[in-house]
Amino acid sequence: MRSISKIEDITPDIARREFMAWMSASSLLALTGCNVSFETNSKRMINKAAKAKNVFDLAKVAEHTMGEESFAYLEGGADDLLTVQANMDAYKELEIRARRLVDVRNINTNLKLFDQNLSTPILLAPVGLQAFFHKDGEIASVKAASKLDHQMVVSTVSNYSVGEIAKAGGKEVWFQLYPTADRNITKGVIKRAEDAGCSVLFLTVDTPVLGNREQHSDTLNRLLESGELPLGNYEGIRIDEPITDPSMTWDMVKWLKDNSSMKVVLKGIVTHEDAKLCLKNGVEGVVVSNHGGRQLESNRATIDCLPEVVDAIKGSIPVLIDGGIRRGTDVFKALALGADAVCIGRPFCYGLGAFGQEGVEKALTLLQAEFVLAMQLAGTVSLAKISREYLT
Ligand SMILES: Cc1cc2nc3c(=O)[nH]c(=O)nc-3n(C[C@H](O)[C@H](O)[C@H](O)COP(=O)(O)O)c2cc1C
Repeated sequence: MRSISKIEDITPDIARREFMAWMSASSLLALTGCNVSFETNSKRMINKAAKAKNVFDLAKVAEHTMGEESFAYLEGGADDLLTVQANMDAYKELEIRARRLVDVRNINTNLKLFDQNLSTPILLAPVGLQAFFHKDGEIASVKAASKLDHQMVVSTVSNYSVGEIAKAGGKEVWFQLYPTADRNITKGVIKRAEDAGCSVLFLTVDTPVLGNREQHSDTLNRLLESGELPLGNYEGIRIDEPITDPSMTWDMVKWLKDNSSMKVVLKGIVTHEDAKLCLKNGVEGVVVSNHGGRQLESNRATIDCLPEVVDAIKGSIPVLIDGGIRRGTDVFKALALGADAVCIGRPFCYGLGAFGQEGVEKALTLLQAEFVLAMQLAGTVSLAKISREYLT
């Protein structure tokens, strides 16, 4: 694994690249009539988190510091990665209708979600095995999230236990559940989350079996089977069981309500039919998600699924979305289409892999600043003001 101090060794041509990047953005090139494709996915290599101008700068460093295997696990997805790509591309198809002459000096991004006051709608999605990206894993992420007041959702397969993570962050984290077919094991995991103070449980419903992840399934199996990276939430209770349950149905919602006091949110809803079933079954929130394109290769971007889910839910419970959010304008577009909040997965992990806690802080700071800027430039001063009228 390469260390940060070695980054400079692999950047002999930074100056040339930066010059080319500047040229790409320059109006001089436009004047020549060249068909310039403006490259936001920067090739710049930075050596300090503070120098990152966008999350792509952090991704570039992460790719070099994390090593091939862990970066492949982070970036990977189902089949040919078409859904991973679609999640990002679909945001580019949406255009913002900005309003003018609005006093945008004071922007308020506060919201109330599942009875909690949050100061930003950008949450950290559950991401497993974060110690694979950086030795401090979820501890670094939660410290960054707490410091900057972003809500973190802890994965069932975190390397540190949910209790350790909540303690390190100093405030409430929410928990994501992968149930095992043996519900006694699931009960043990749920108890850990409740003891850690979690009041919200995200049940992941897009993973009855693991997707076809050709880039990293071998790695994942090895890590889970060998115990090379300990799974904090299974310590003392894990037996040799897969963390997927192909037999799970809607009955699981009732089971969770009977066996837990946490609010039940279903993560992975992508149709209006299932959104209506969520309401019928007493679910308290949904996350429109395709697992960051890691499960079913469907090519249906989550932002394209959002409107039908929002229309079916009709404001009765919160609707969150994740997948492909890389810019503050993406957050703005998701909220304009009716999401109450968004979750980001890979972006904060780029920061983690690149620079540990400092990198996560930078990723969160960048996205929040970009989002506030989008609100100002579009003429919206609070989250409530962002509506479908702001999109074409
Ligand atoms: C490396 C990695 C690990 C993940 N682990 C989990 C997990 O343990 N549980 C879960 O529900 N989702 C998991 N996800 C999915 C994320 O919660 C989220 O849906 C996805 O990352 C959003 O897409 P984005 O990465 O484009 O932001 C994981 C995603 C990645 C990239």
